[in-house]
Amino acid sequence: MADEIVPPANELAAVALGNDTVQKAQFSNRVLIKSILGRPDGGASLAGQKVRIGGWVKTGREQGKGAFAFLAVNDGSCPANLQVMVDSSLYDLSKLVATGTCVTVDGVLKLPPEGKDKQMIELSVEKVIDVGTVEDKYPLPKTKLTLEFLRDMLHLRSRTNSISAIARIRNALAFATHSFFQEHSFLYVHTPIITTSDCEGAGEMFQVTTLINHTEQVEKDLIVNPPPTEADVEAARLIVKERGAAVKQLKAQLKDAGATKEEIDAATTAPVGELTSAKANLAQIEERSKLKPGLPKKDGKIDYSNDFFSRQAFLTVSGQLQVETYACALSSVYTFGPTFRAENSHTTRHLAEFWMVEPEIAFADLQDDMNCAEAYVKYMCKWLLEKCYDDMELMAKNFDRGCIERLQLVASTPFGRITYTEAIELLERAVAEGKKFENNVEWGIDLASEHERYLTEVMFQKPIIVYNYPKGIKAFYMRLNDDGKTVAAMDVLVPKVGELIGGSQREERYDVITQRIKEMGLPIEPYKWYIDLRRYGTVKHCGFGLGFERMILFATGIDNIRDVIPFPRYPGKADL
Ligand code: 4AD
Ligand code: MG
Repeated sequence: MADEIVPPANELAAVALGNDTVQKAQFSNRVLIKSILGRPDGGASLAGQKVRIGGWVKTGREQGKGAFAFLAVNDGSCPANLQVMVDSSLYDLSKLVATGTCVTVDGVLKLPPEGKDKQMIELSVEKVIDVGTVEDKYPLPKTKLTLEFLRDMLHLRSRTNSISAIARIRNALAFATHSFFQEHSFLYVHTPIITTSDCEGAGEMFQVTTLINHTEQVEKDLIVNPPPTEADVEAARLIVKERGAAVKQLKAQLKDAGATKEEIDAATTAPVGELTSAKANLAQIEERSKLKPGLPKKDGKIDYSNDFFSRQAFLTVSGQLQVETYACALSSVYTFGPTFRAENSHTTRHLAEFWMVEPEIAFADLQDDMNCAEAYVKYMCKWLLEKCYDDMELMAKNFDRGCIERLQLVASTPFGRITYTEAIELLERAVAEGKKFENNVEWGIDLASEHERYLTEVMFQKPIIVYNYPKGIKAFYMRLNDDGKTVAAMDVLVPKVGELIGGSQREERYDVITQRIKEMGLPIEPYKWYIDLRRYGTVKHCGFGLGFERMILFATGIDNIRDVIPFPRYPGKADL
């Protein structure tokens, strides 16, 4: 087994000199700083052990008149830095102390002098193995940086305490997601990124096309190499005609002279070859003469038959419709991937590219859907408390003092559940009592973010699920309730964020879904395959979509969604 391979003598790893041992990282010849500092005793029991560590200098200072240097080194495995002491006899200290420098060092773990530091353990370096120096001025100033400033520094912001903690929290939530669904026997299904169906029917899709590159190429080419004129085509046509006539005439003469078929073929090989190449030349000239600048058009519209997929295609806004095909065969499934929306939203809760977790459950109704959503959100909150407590402490310190209590509360308190009609009544009552909203409140409106946040933050002070929305404001696939006015939809609203989850029971009745698609003015043809699921073994089913970045906002208390995804995309911005 890999674990049992003894490292070469010069590769310092988990050499037990003290009472305790520290494991070498796998696939990397060093010890993770987390495995030293992440121990209950802060690593104190490892005193005496020789280890190799690698990381980036957060802060470095020369001391003792340049006799030695202290470096606070972080390798991203945990929020804490390891204090590293290097003697000037080992290396040019001025090359080590700059923030951002990368160091790989061997050393002995030692208890720091009592009472001097809050560190439980430090590393006394015996050998400097590798250094990645900082050239010129490190672009991240040492002062406290705002998240907004860091947004223009995407390639380096992962080096900061906040962004690296968010990255670990994001990673933990992704793991928790798979863990939750796998524990409940859901199968992970990969739905397409490129799609030809608009799930939400909201027309907010990014188009995927090679027509534009192709057109640009043609336009460039036409300038260098102008298209053949009508006269060029005519000339080429004439050559074909002449060569055709010559071949015909030669064949007739040979036949008259009594030549056999084989003799005729042999004698006409060359002129026939010339005719063939004249024809090929004509075809090419005719094809090029059709080239025009601009996108190809047919009947006044763009002709997508020339596009890459021979039809219009888009980036997905949701994997739901496709994942339903698997739910209607494998029962409980989920998809978790990037989704794209070309809405021109400049809010702190919208991205053009975001990740969505979408479970889909067969043999289940709206109640099951709500139960699943609630259990999943609670599971993630508990997971963070158990596995990411130190990063959550950093969030509490830097961004939102109440974030840990919020996770505890959400993990342990049942979510509120109210119908849309009840929600409107509550909001109307608030308005009557003097609360002012920018958007009008009346039955039939799409709840605005201010309404959602008022309900969850002020009225309930915990997550709530609003269900049974008016059919007019929801997507075509949601199941029509018996009242004929509402659909079996549900949204999970949470403090700080508003809408975290949107879901529904799906319309499984063939006639009703067909009617709903028509009613909403959508074309039937693109949804034919979707409706087929209702013709062949239809089943009651439901599902939801959780905005993954919104979950991170909710958990951490970070204000802007652009700071919880590594490479945010929003109107006017797509760096790296
Ligand atoms: O409510 P939405 O639009 O629902 C759907 O797409 C369904 N097809 C999901 C399903 O039933 N399988 O989006 C789901 C969630 C929202 O509740 C919100 O949290 C998030 O996705 N979301 C966004 N997150 C960031 N930026 C955006 N532009 C978002 N749009 C939606
Ligand atoms: Mg929604």
